Amino acid sequence: MASRIIPVDVFDLVIFGGTGDLARRKILPSLLRRFRAGQMPKDARIIACARSPLDDAGYREAAAAAIAEFAGPEREDAALVAAFLGRLHYVTVDVTGDAGWPELAALMRPDAVRAFYFSVKPSLFGPIAERLHLRGIADADSRIVVEKPFGRDLASAHALNAALAEHFAERQIYRIDHYLGKETVQNLMAVRFANMLFEPLWNNHYIDHVQITVAETVGVAGRGSYYDGAGAMRDMVQNHLMQLLCLTAMEPPARFESDMVHDEKLKVIRALQPVPPSDIVFGQYAAGPDPSYREDVSNPESATESFIAMRCTIGTWRWAGVPFYLRTGKRLKARSSEIAVVFQKLGHRIFGESMESHRNVLSIRLQPNDGIDLQVTVKERGPGGMRLIDMPLDLTFADMAADQGEAAVDAYERLIMDVIRGDQTLFMRGDEVEAAWAWTDPILAACAEHDRKPQLYEQGSSGPDDALMLLHRDGRRWREIKG
Ligand code: NDP
Ligand code: BG6
Repeated sequence: MASRIIPVDVFDLVIFGGTGDLARRKILPSLLRRFRAGQMPKDARIIACARSPLDDAGYREAAAAAIAEFAGPEREDAALVAAFLGRLHYVTVDVTGDAGWPELAALMRPDAVRAFYFSVKPSLFGPIAERLHLRGIADADSRIVVEKPFGRDLASAHALNAALAEHFAERQIYRIDHYLGKETVQNLMAVRFANMLFEPLWNNHYIDHVQITVAETVGVAGRGSYYDGAGAMRDMVQNHLMQLLCLTAMEPPARFESDMVHDEKLKVIRALQPVPPSDIVFGQYAAGPDPSYREDVSNPESATESFIAMRCTIGTWRWAGVPFYLRTGKRLKARSSEIAVVFQKLGHRIFGESMESHRNVLSIRLQPNDGIDLQVTVKERGPGGMRLIDMPLDLTFADMAADQGEAAVDAYERLIMDVIRGDQTLFMRGDEVEAAWAWTDPILAACAEHDRKPQLYEQGSSGPDDALMLLHRDGRRWREIKG
């Protein structure tokens, strides 16, 4: 089964911050891949803007260097890269001033989809939105794309939403959470809502608990000043893990349409109960083979968490009594992200007590080797009586795609093309983001009030010991973090 490329309309994609790290590392390589896939129409253009005094040729040179550093194997195809570079243009603009805007306005074409990617710090979102509007560069059909962090608390997120809303309607605003663009995240919705098998069991009658883990091996070196002011709660839980939790817990929307999906996610966020400090464990990586967290952020006194584990509950009929354990951290033993739905034990064990340890687990793996497996209990082959073992019914999409000669689609590729198509389903709506902060703020405030300090953990471990205790005290165990 070959992947289907649905061409998008001709577009002018303006990247504010076109010389920055995100543009170099993610946006340009993703666009190159969509170009290679044939999804970019012949006349589509990418217009980068920043203060650096470059012309088209200078920017193409810089983009070529970024592609050489960050793109995948497609960077080896010189003709492809040259053709792609031909689509790039550059305008020198200081988004807080007046220079450059007329030149940008002159480049925009009336019949092309206009998308403006704000790949800059959030304090520049307002000035850009205002100028795009006042100078008539954006019209009522234009789209703007904003990156995380979308605020650092409810008040700042509300202010950002208000600044954007002054000039753009909600249907024009695409707030990126790149986890929503990951292949398996969408598959989670397919598995839940396109099968008879799971939805009837998807509630507190059959599910014991859910574990959501996003483990990373990388540290925070290079992003220290941002990260030390954020920590794992703001950097990962408020957005990425929250989105995973929502898609796992939400009610089926009536249709797979953007607003209907957002409405259901919003209900989940609003139903999340406050988490007491006793149900949260903060950790910080100690020195090991690599420098410690405090060395990475050049702050010897830092009390910011690079790891968090927490026990969340959702106050709805479906989920009453079912804990959702969330865990994420840096410099852990493997890069591994999964949602594990752990079903309850059987009420009656016809095979005797040997059944005690067996349970069904549906594991939705985001990375690496994205896929889904369902752990089922079967008889071990061979003589020797009824010996039971757990085996996975394994759907490793990554392998299936490789067998079919398909290249994996990066989250940014999918999301940027969704912007051009005008599909907001995999983005965050403004009220969702604010509701997520409204849940996060009091939790962080309570932890600060209780003076909760991170526990040091070893690099390459599964996090601090207290995180193990968080489940142990409920008679449960974390799943192993495996790469
Ligand atoms: P960088 O600091 O690397 O880049 C910032 C960009 O903004 C540069 O192109 C800079 O170019 C431009 N810029 C700064 N001030 C102005 C101005 N006044 N007028 C016009 N252009 C300006 O940041 P990143 O690329 O890393 O991040 C951009 C945004 O994306 C941030 O909000 C970040 O939090 C977010 N993000 C980044 C990720 C990453 O992997 N890098 C991941 C997820 C989110 P110049 O100096 O030439 O003007
Ligand atoms: C980013 C966070 O949003 O997601 C980073 O700011 C984190 O701290 C990254 O490393 C993880 O993304 P991925 O796709 O590598 O799991």
